Amino acid sequence: MILTVGNTKGGVGKTTIAVNLAILRAATGRDVLLVDADAQGSASVFSEIRAEQGGRSGYTVVGLHGGAVRTQVRLLAPKYHEVVIDVGGNDTAGLRAALTVSDALLVPVQPRSFDIWAIAQMASLVAEARELNETLRAFIVINAADAQGRDNAAAREALSDVAGLEMIEAHLVRRKAYPNAAAQGAGIIEMQPADAKAIEELSALAATLFG
Ligand SMILES: Nc1ncnc2c1ncn2[C@@H]1O[C@H](COP(=O)(O)OP(=O)(O)O)[C@@H](O)[C@H]1O
Ligand SMILES: [Mg+2]
Repeated sequence: MILTVGNTKGGVGKTTIAVNLAILRAATGRDVLLVDADAQGSASVFSEIRAEQGGRSGYTVVGLHGGAVRTQVRLLAPKYHEVVIDVGGNDTAGLRAALTVSDALLVPVQPRSFDIWAIAQMASLVAEARELNETLRAFIVINAADAQGRDNAAAREALSDVAGLEMIEAHLVRRKAYPNAAAQGAGIIEMQPADAKAIEELSALAATLFG
């Protein structure tokens, strides 16, 4: 399964979700390749911090850019159960290349107006990608949601009719576990004490994507 976590909007949680999904899948014994296709290299820096800590379940990380995202992922994917591609917050050649080789795209969206409006650009990129990659599935997940209140339902409603993208039922609430874990090169599933709600939400998301 090749999954791209992408949104042309920055700061929506792409890298956070990509590394946490990679760690979750690796922890269940899958061979995972994390592709850092963002020139800013956050997923690579995170992985370096993680490697320095030692003793943590592994995934392999590789940095790829532009057309190499397509050609190298094609070559590497058969060696792994899962490939997770983290892209930058722009309409880049790397994002477009990723969409042509992926089985699925996950678009994190924060339940706030500017973020919701930006989804139209992703919808047109998905439509273009499907001309080359007919079977590409595309999902929206609401990330960094408030634990309570009407905003999540309003966002869900506003996003429900984006052409060509399916809404994922599970959403991820804004939780301190994410930045706390990231600072230590860890995934939320590795933190003590565990944030059970955060883990439950992430697991529900993973179940939808990976089955
Ligand atoms: N569900 C969440 N709860 C709390 N903080 C989050 C959550 N998702 C992302 N963040 C924080 O938001 C910031 C941006 O996330 P990041 O993954 O770097 O976004 P992107 O890769 O889309 O630019 C980071 O500081 C990250 O820790
Ligand atoms: Mg990022």
